[in-house]
Amino acid sequence: EAIEKGGYEHFMMKEIYEQPKSIADCLRGRLDAKSGRLVLGGLRDYMNKFQNAERIIITACGTSWHAGLVAEYLFEEFARVPVEVEYASEFRYRNPVIGEKDFVIAISQSGETADTLAAIELAKSKGATIFGVCNVVGSSIPRATHAGSYTHAGPEIGVASTKAFTAQISVLAMMALKLGYQRGTLPESRYIQLLHELEAIPGKVERALKSNEAIKYIAEEYKDVRNALYLGRGYNFPVALEGALKLKEISYIHAEGYPAAEMKHGPIALIDEEMPVFFIATKDSSYEKVVSNIQEVKARKGKVIAVVTEGDTQVKAIADHVIEIPETHEAFAPLVAVVPLQLLSYHIAVMRGCNVDQPRNLAKSVTVE
Ligand code: G6P
Repeated sequence: EAIEKGGYEHFMMKEIYEQPKSIADCLRGRLDAKSGRLVLGGLRDYMNKFQNAERIIITACGTSWHAGLVAEYLFEEFARVPVEVEYASEFRYRNPVIGEKDFVIAISQSGETADTLAAIELAKSKGATIFGVCNVVGSSIPRATHAGSYTHAGPEIGVASTKAFTAQISVLAMMALKLGYQRGTLPESRYIQLLHELEAIPGKVERALKSNEAIKYIAEEYKDVRNALYLGRGYNFPVALEGALKLKEISYIHAEGYPAAEMKHGPIALIDEEMPVFFIATKDSSYEKVVSNIQEVKARKGKVIAVVTEGDTQVKAIADHVIEIPETHEAFAPLVAVVPLQLLSYHIAVMRGCNVDQPRNLAKSVTVE
């Protein structure tokens, strides 16, 4: 097992550090920005269905559902198709309105999640086209779907998903770019520029990992808190959900993710000097709005820890701690911004003496409903 961990103390840490490679593996052979090439083999026979879909329905559970939320923003922005993101466990039991014009994307690391499988069977019985985005080759979901793309992240052993999440977003980003280009909603020059941006992500994740020591220091300061809030807007809202999920899964600290603006409809009541609030505050179209949300937290004496873009000065001036990540196009920011949050949860959990790779009560693959 020590050999399998490749020198890391836990699989989770190894898998966090594998991300520059796992994302590159996921893009390899599919995307070549220089020649403008973007090919997803699994889509070939279903491109017509995809392109003419009146609606995309994404179904998944847990972290995979968070990847689906990122995809909702991607598909709507680039391809202008309406998207719904559904918890598989809800979708399967609520007699959803769905038919032949719907293109369903089922996301699953393991490819074995019972609720996701059942949601697929239901959508299939109503005539929808089902596309799988899975990591485990030959698992049940790829066999139950019409077509799909593997994430090629390699085996993920840690129960808390890390590299599978970023690989899922990578596949979904390629799908959104392809769809936007084919549908004509993404002009060629912008499409090519975005291909370059996506291709640069593995290198940026590599740079984000360099903050590990600084993150350890922050973890030391907050390891004994009882609650935490994670806030973000736009593409970074699902990152806030994922950051909170990572913390609660492995460190057993109660954490909630929220869209930053929703804070005033509830979570703001919880803020006092004891409450750490983790903001994803990268330079994007909602940056100024996030800065005001940070000010609202500081005005109530909350502690602010913010993931910011390299060179940021505005948030740095008001936050208690900042973690810098390289600048990216906002649509791909989740791929980089989630990394420091994964590291932070990891260190906090280790410092609390938790079993990071196998947290209590959780399973890697949930094959019962
Ligand atoms: C379990 C795992 C999570 C995972 C979720 C969905 O809860 O512990 O890490 O996100 O199932 O699993 P899937 O294999 O379908 O992505």
